This record gives sequence, structure tokens and C-alpha cells, in this order.
Amino acid sequence: MHYYYQKYPYLNYSYRDTDGPWTMFSIPPKMLVTEFVNKFGQKPKTFFDCGAAIGVIVMMAQKLGMDARGIDIKNYPYKSSNLEELFTSGKIQIKSILDCEPIVADIVFCNGTLTYFSETELPNVLAKFRNSKMICAIHNTTEDIAAAAANGDILTTCNKTRLIKPQNWWINTFTKNGFNVKYAEHIRCFCAVPNHSK
Ligand SMILES: C[S@@+](CC[C@H](N)C(=O)[O-])C[C@H]1O[C@@H](n2cnc3c(N)ncnc32)[C@H](O)[C@@H]1O
Repeated sequence: MHYYYQKYPYLNYSYRDTDGPWTMFSIPPKMLVTEFVNKFGQKPKTFFDCGAAIGVIVMMAQKLGMDARGIDIKNYPYKSSNLEELFTSGKIQIKSILDCEPIVADIVFCNGTLTYFSETELPNVLAKFRNSKMICAIHNTTEDIAAAAANGDILTTCNKTRLIKPQNWWINTFTKNGFNVKYAEHIRCFCAVPNHSK
């Protein structure tokens, strides 16, 4: 079984890009809601998918009753008709997070997105999330590349990534940028909360 199926057993979905069919691996928003409730003792009301792709996660978050929106730097050419409305209504906008005003949301979800930036850009990206309550980030780390290789797999992603770093590097980076962070092992997710003492 490919490493991605082992790492992300809870959600995958198919989509088409210009270069053919792909499988996206992700985390159901419901599991992120559980992390939020455990931390804050109340349900999240707002959800922001930073790197929303074709909108599947935004739709799932909406169905849980949250006011969900998102952005993506890339306009995916093939979207299913039930998701198209998210884009035409502006719930999902085509733009870079670096061009956004600070994001105010209970949950910000970054699936792979943080690895698209350089080390010097990353503090500017994280600064966008300091007015949000919880940042949930899933992405490949150095440890994943090694574990996948041991499994005979090469990790490909839907677009090119730049920043593959050890898990501890990410913990330190969140911390240095003013977040209290833990790695939620059961969902393979960095959960970061701005500490507001910075
Ligand atoms: C792995 S996909 C995540 C899809 C979706 N969130 C999910 O979990 O199913 C990561 C997305 O991040 C987007 N991305 C990369 N750089 C970005 C940027 N600067 N601003 C916004 N989105 C970006 C990519 O285009 C890609 O669609």
C-alpha cells in the first residue's frame, strides 16, 4: 500500500488536472473540529482552507455547519459541478495567501501549502494566521520522505514543493513565529495556536 494511504487513511479523493488524474490525500474537517473542541471547549464556527484546490474540503466544512471559505493560487481546470458554485460565489478565491489580508477564522487548514514557500517567505505566511484560533497543517517532512522510501514509494505532490524539513524544524518554526504547537500524531497534523504574547 502506498505510503500516502498509510499516512492519510481517513480521506482521499480523485480529481483531474491538466496532466491527468490524481488522488488527493487529506483530513476530514470533522477530525479538525474534534481537535478544536478539545482545545477550546466549543465548536468552531469558521473555517479557512489555505490551498483549497477544487473545493472538496470547503464543501465538507460547510456541510458541518461552518462558514467555510478558502483560496488557492491555482485555478484548477476541472471542477465538479457541485463545487463550481464555491468559486463563482467567491467563497473560494484564486489568489496567493501572500496577497491576502490577515485571515480571521477559527480553523485554518493548510494541506501541503506551507511547503510551497521558501524559508524566508514562511514567517510572512504564518503572520497571516495570527488572528485565527487554530492552524492545522499537514505536509511531508523529511521523516515522511524516508518512511516512504523504506516502503518503496516516492512522494509526489500535485504541484512542486520546496520546503521539506524535519518534523522538529516545523515545531521550532511555529514556535519562533509565536505559535504554541503540538503534533497530533493520530491525524498526522501540526495544530498551532497563536500565543499572543509576541
Ligand atoms: C495538497 S493541495 C490541498 C487541497 C485541499 N486543501 C485538501 O486538503 O484536499 C495544496 C494546495 O496549495 C496551493 N497553494 C500553493 N501555494 C499557494 C499559495 N501561495 N497561496 C494559496 N494556495 C497555494 C496549491 O495550488 C494546492 O492546490
